[in-house]
Amino acid sequence: MMHFLLFLLFLFAPATVLSDDPAFNDDVLGLIVFKAGLQDPKGKLSTWNEDDNNPCKWAGVKCDPTTNRVSAIVLDGFSLSGHIDRGLLRLQSLQILSLSKNNFSGSINSDLLRPGSLQVLDLSENNLSGSIPEGFFRQCGSLRSVSFAKNKLTGKIPDSLSSCTLLVTVNFSSNQLNGNLPSGIWFLRQLQSLDLSNNLLEGEVPEGIENLYDLKELNLQRNRFIGRLPGDIGGCMFLKSLDLSDNFLFGTIPESMQGLNSCTSLNLHGNSLTGAVPDWIGELKNLEMLDLSANRFSGLIPKSIGNLNSLNKLNLSRNHFTGNLPESIVTCVKLLALDISQNQLEGRLPSWIFRMGLRSVSLSGNSFNSSNYPLSTSTPESYHGLQVLDLSSNAFSGELPSNIGGLSSLQVLNMSANNNSGPIPVGIGDLKSLYILDLSDNKLNGSIPPELEGAFSLSELRLQNNFLSGEIPAQIEKCSSLTTLILSHNKLTSSIPAAIANLTNLQYVDLSWNELSGSLPKNLSNLSHLIFFNVSYNQLQGELPVGGFFNIISPSSVTGNPSLCGSVVNHSCPSVHPKPIVLNTNSSYSNSNSSSQNHGHKKIILSISSLIAIGAAAIITVGVVAITVLNAHVRHSMSRSAAPFTLSGGEDYSCSPANDPNYGKLVMFSGEAGFDDGANNLLNKESIIGRGGFGIVYHTVLRDGHSVAIKKLTVSGLIKSQEDFEREVKNLATIKHQNLVGLKGYYWTSSLQLLIYEYLSRGSLHKLLHEDENGRNMLSWRQRFKIILGMAKGLVHLHQKNIIHYNLKSANILIDCSGEPKIGDFGLVRLLPVLDHCVLSSKIQSALGYMAPEFACRTVKITEKCDVYGFGILVLEVVTGKRPVEYMEDDVVVLCDMVRGALEEGRVEQCVDRMLVGNFAAEEAIPVVKLGLICASQVPSNRPDMAEAVSILELIQCPSEGQEELE
Ligand SMILES: *[C@@H]1O[C@H](CO)[C@@H](O)[C@H](O)[C@H]1NC(C)=O
Ligand SMILES: *[C@@H]1O[C@H](CO)[C@@H](O)[C@H](O)[C@H]1NC(C)=O
Ligand SMILES: *[C@@H]1O[C@H](CO)[C@@H](O)[C@H](O)[C@H]1NC(C)=O
Ligand SMILES: *[C@@H]1O[C@H](CO)[C@@H](O)[C@H](O)[C@H]1NC(C)=O
Repeated sequence: MMHFLLFLLFLFAPATVLSDDPAFNDDVLGLIVFKAGLQDPKGKLSTWNEDDNNPCKWAGVKCDPTTNRVSAIVLDGFSLSGHIDRGLLRLQSLQILSLSKNNFSGSINSDLLRPGSLQVLDLSENNLSGSIPEGFFRQCGSLRSVSFAKNKLTGKIPDSLSSCTLLVTVNFSSNQLNGNLPSGIWFLRQLQSLDLSNNLLEGEVPEGIENLYDLKELNLQRNRFIGRLPGDIGGCMFLKSLDLSDNFLFGTIPESMQGLNSCTSLNLHGNSLTGAVPDWIGELKNLEMLDLSANRFSGLIPKSIGNLNSLNKLNLSRNHFTGNLPESIVTCVKLLALDISQNQLEGRLPSWIFRMGLRSVSLSGNSFNSSNYPLSTSTPESYHGLQVLDLSSNAFSGELPSNIGGLSSLQVLNMSANNNSGPIPVGIGDLKSLYILDLSDNKLNGSIPPELEGAFSLSELRLQNNFLSGEIPAQIEKCSSLTTLILSHNKLTSSIPAAIANLTNLQYVDLSWNELSGSLPKNLSNLSHLIFFNVSYNQLQGELPVGGFFNIISPSSVTGNPSLCGSVVNHSCPSVHPKPIVLNTNSSYSNSNSSSQNHGHKKIILSISSLIAIGAAAIITVGVVAITVLNAHVRHSMSRSAAPFTLSGGEDYSCSPANDPNYGKLVMFSGEAGFDDGANNLLNKESIIGRGGFGIVYHTVLRDGHSVAIKKLTVSGLIKSQEDFEREVKNLATIKHQNLVGLKGYYWTSSLQLLIYEYLSRGSLHKLLHEDENGRNMLSWRQRFKIILGMAKGLVHLHQKNIIHYNLKSANILIDCSGEPKIGDFGLVRLLPVLDHCVLSSKIQSALGYMAPEFACRTVKITEKCDVYGFGILVLEVVTGKRPVEYMEDDVVVLCDMVRGALEEGRVEQCVDRMLVGNFAAEEAIPVVKLGLICASQVPSNRPDMAEAVSILELIQCPSEGQEELE
């Protein structure tokens, strides 16, 4: 194609183009060829015209005034698409090539540096993919600056990079580069700025960085680096900015970092660093930003921090610091943001905190206690700047300061989970910028002051779990931005003001567990953004609003109000004429309680024979035979109930005449008794507990009282021969692990196959996460972590046995009574003849959202990495409590993309299940989310294997919190 274009150009170019200066023509030709391969939807290159033999005036082109040769092409943000073409190689004098912020795609041309004149190469913020060619940097000539940031590059950083010794800046940030950092990189002695952030780089940061004498900026954040901080980094005396955040680094802060005198920004957030913060930190006098949050630092906060008088942001949150906050911090005169939340600090609330002119203060999650808030009555100027004050989850007591209205810039006030008492100060109404007010979980009494209307910017109002009484003031209507209104667990009385229906932005409303009476305002149904509306356990009466959210409101949100009526509460309203009752005639597939109640009259207790008759409808005769055999087995096993059947022996317990293939064969791998043919019988619709790609699962009780789950395979037609089937099943039964569901036996006829598994009464992870509407069985963070780790261990075991699961999903993860997860449904593919991808993905791997992308691609070999993908999605599901794919009204939200987006925007904590807010260990949750995303990488080779995932999880797990329940 390109050759053809060149050919055309030569043929049809007017003679003027080919002027007497051949070098000049080369430049024109190169640029025109380059342009010919591009889409230029905005016509930015319209001045690039082959009739014009002077390219120096073309948009984005600059020439060297002495030679008139093209020296720079700068097309940043021109909206160009296409490939970066070889045409550029003709530009022999090109020094600067900057194509940033376009839509160039394809891989990087390995010869781009060949002309040898290039000094600056900026291809950042495009859509380039593939790996950086290994030999790319061998021709680097005079290259000083290279940026491939924000593309989709994969593969390793080529070793050849170390031969570009003139490089001053290197920026490969925000790609998917993996592998180790080539140690030769520290030979780039001119290097001043190295940005490799947001990749998948791994291994240790190699020694030798001290060679980079001129280094000013090093950014390795958000990779998978492991090991200690580089011990020689202090050799980089001119380093101004060091960011190693969000990796897996451990160990202490090395002594040598004392040498980083020029450093203005030091970010070690989100690693597993330990030990005390050294006193010499106070000598890094130029520090403006110090972030040591989300590590495992311990000991006292060093007093010397007070010497950092350029500091404007200090974040020590989520560590294990003890003692009080050193008063010396008051001398950090430029400090604007102080976050020491989630430590083990204690003592009184220092008054100087309010005198320093801080913008943001968080002391949340410590043990600070005092009974007065040191806000002096004459509000000094310095208060005015405070925007965020978070004192939540401490041991503060006493009354809230009445002069709080003096904090006139306050936007967020969180005093939740303390022991504050007394009334809500009316001064809150003076806080015109306040958008989050959280006073929940205290002992506040009195009523909600109507003056609250003055805080008209409020978006979230949380006052739950107090002793508030009186009515909900109608004036709240003035806070028209409210999205969240949580007043549950108080003693509020009287009726819900109709004015609430005017708060059109409301999404979450919880008024449950109060003493509210009267009826619900009808026009609440106009609130079009409602997601949650809970008024349960009050004394409300009358008819529920009809329409909008109230058509889909869950019964648990209105329960506990005996006088409420309406279809949701199953209690018809007396004044309304009776509506016809519509029965759902298609009830057979509905598992919900309500339908089984409604259709109780249809309930038939099916006998074992009918069950198999239903199961194998087409072959009733065989079914009946099978029954006979099962019953025979029951009798037989009763007579020898103690007979030891060992697994290794694999002794077949067969009651059938061995030579008749129509007779079924029941084999239990241990000495358990057979099916009980009694009252609550087998495999009828009532006992269905699940449906999967391979079949329907029923619950039944063995004669000896043991519960088992029975899977009736629905892939009958595909099953292998009896011999192969039995061999594979026996093989599967030998796979035992505490995180795998154990196979206990099987039943075989040529037309019906049952697999008998251990039964786990708590049900599936799916049920616990998504079907637990009233939150009664809410999984704590600690339980979730245990589930994630358990699943990972189960998969490691499977993979060691060379079994690929193919069909991971939360419905296949069962939880036992100690909260340990057990993976079910594995190995069943082995019962089928060898299938190709297509059949595999359509028949078996049917779980939408868990399916690894390689299933869609016939040429990629499916390996156990497809399970790693599924595991990654499960991790995200467990942490967020959301399904892998959620269908909204007219939108589809793909969990993995949503979380990845949130991670990129640094707000990943908001993805954690809302049920866990305030009750999870962020220093675990965030790395766990990251692990989930890595496991759910598009490219199989970017995913870790399961054993690595287990090691990472063990590293993430906070040792002190490993055992106890996080409350
Ligand atoms: C980017 O380029 C690709 C093809 O290379 C094209 O499909 C896509 O529409 C372009 N996107 C924009 C925003 O121009
Ligand atoms: C990136 O390239 C791919 C394939 O060429 C294309 O589908 C996608 O739309 C491009 N991305 C953007 C942001 O244009
Ligand atoms: C690297 O490039 C990205 C994207 O263009 C940019 O945001 C970032 O600031 C650059 N890094 C450095 C150190 O300049
Ligand atoms: C809601 O707002 C409208 C317009 O401001 C007003 O007329 C109406 O009285 C308000 N409704 C209630 C119940 O306060």
